[in-house]
Amino acid sequence: MYIFKAAVVGAGTMGGEIAQVITYSGLPVVMKDVDQGMLDKGMDKVRSVYQHRVDRGKMSAGDMQAKLDLVTPTLTYDEFGDVDIVIEAVPEKMAVKQAVFKELEGVCPEETIFASNTSALSISEMGAATGKPQKMIGMHFFNPAHVMKLVEVIPGLDTNQETVDDVVMFAESLRKIPVVVQECPGFLVNRLLMPYLNEATKALGEGAATATEIDQAVVAWGMPMGPFTLMDMLGIDVCGHVGDYLYAEYGERMSPAPLFAELLEAGRLGEKSGAGFYDHPGGESATVKGMIEALQSSGTVPSGTSFSVGRVMLPLVNEAALCVQENIATINDIDMSMVAGTGMTYGGERIGPLAVADKIGLDAVVEQLTMLEQELGPRFRPSRPLKLRVRAGHLGVKTGKGFLEHV
Ligand code: 3HC
Repeated sequence: MYIFKAAVVGAGTMGGEIAQVITYSGLPVVMKDVDQGMLDKGMDKVRSVYQHRVDRGKMSAGDMQAKLDLVTPTLTYDEFGDVDIVIEAVPEKMAVKQAVFKELEGVCPEETIFASNTSALSISEMGAATGKPQKMIGMHFFNPAHVMKLVEVIPGLDTNQETVDDVVMFAESLRKIPVVVQECPGFLVNRLLMPYLNEATKALGEGAATATEIDQAVVAWGMPMGPFTLMDMLGIDVCGHVGDYLYAEYGERMSPAPLFAELLEAGRLGEKSGAGFYDHPGGESATVKGMIEALQSSGTVPSGTSFSVGRVMLPLVNEAALCVQENIATINDIDMSMVAGTGMTYGGERIGPLAVADKIGLDAVVEQLTMLEQELGPRFRPSRPLKLRVRAGHLGVKTGKGFLEHV
């Protein structure tokens, strides 16, 4: 099925980002919300992305207006009678999402594809709330959506192949790189990102290093921005929500850093609230420093643990290895997703976590994780697919074979 008209439900920043991406490819999009303020915010987002292009001389003001005219902001479902796909970007609560899809069933044609931009929640569960789970699918964009090339495409248990093929083709028509990912909590990229962001927050809360030191070390390692800069951009509420869900689904190895709850309680939601891990503007925050001291003196977190870049990056590599074992995506797709979804590089090359492990040497990765496990606990236990390869002599680049073949 070719997509001629799309809709986004849930405006706000992410809804606006997705609407901008769709109009950029020349397609009309209906943007619906229940709140005029959110609708305005969504339109502001679309406008600001295009305005940035006009300011940089990459687009004329007339072309910008033509793109903006492709968006129909609305508080009603009146325009939904001929949409081919709806992308839901409402708050991350299963009951809210299910209620939205139920409403949509009543107003959209039978063949309309129902896509969710959820960061982590179950697509199968959303599909089960509708009479057409075969048309339900995850279509997960990455922030900032106008820059990041990746779109995760996540079929649920009942999604049919036609829907998968249609959404892959649609994502390509948006000039994105679609990767089909098996359903699991956090899908692929957030499942890999969270252990790393969480460990960085644990290291910060335990006084192992400052936010700036950790951010700088991670950027030197090869990520385009450090974990605290990224979380302040994404929103501490968003990261906290994904982290809680992954903890509930995967258990102890994802137990959230206590500092998240402190920031949330203080309303420090990141750039959007003017303060998160950092003050915006201002940088390092005396308030956060105070929270860290209080966490340590109350014994909520250990103090004086050590920081190394391996401490924050190797949990991501370990989780990527688990995704190989669970067939969440192919080895190449896992690596490509991290490059296209998070801008990951290593040693000056655009490579993902499994190729990085091959470069470091899988034996060295297992050795470092074992040392971290001894110091900091079982969340660092090297995963079976890593140990298996080491035992088989598949050590990575140095033996010609690890996760990948090296000729
Ligand atoms: N409006 C419009 N366009 C903008 C813009 C703006 N406000 N700011 C930048 N741009 C454009 C620029 O024009 C440029 O385009 P060009 O190459 O055509 O000129 C492009 O965006 C890149 O801009 P910059 O070169 O200024 O940006 P940087 O080099 O500083 O990179 C970044 C910024 C792309 C955000 C980079 O730091 C990065 O990749 N960070 C990692 C982001 C990441 O990990 N995202 C995924 C998070 S997880 C997620 O989203 C999932 C969710 O479920 C939680």
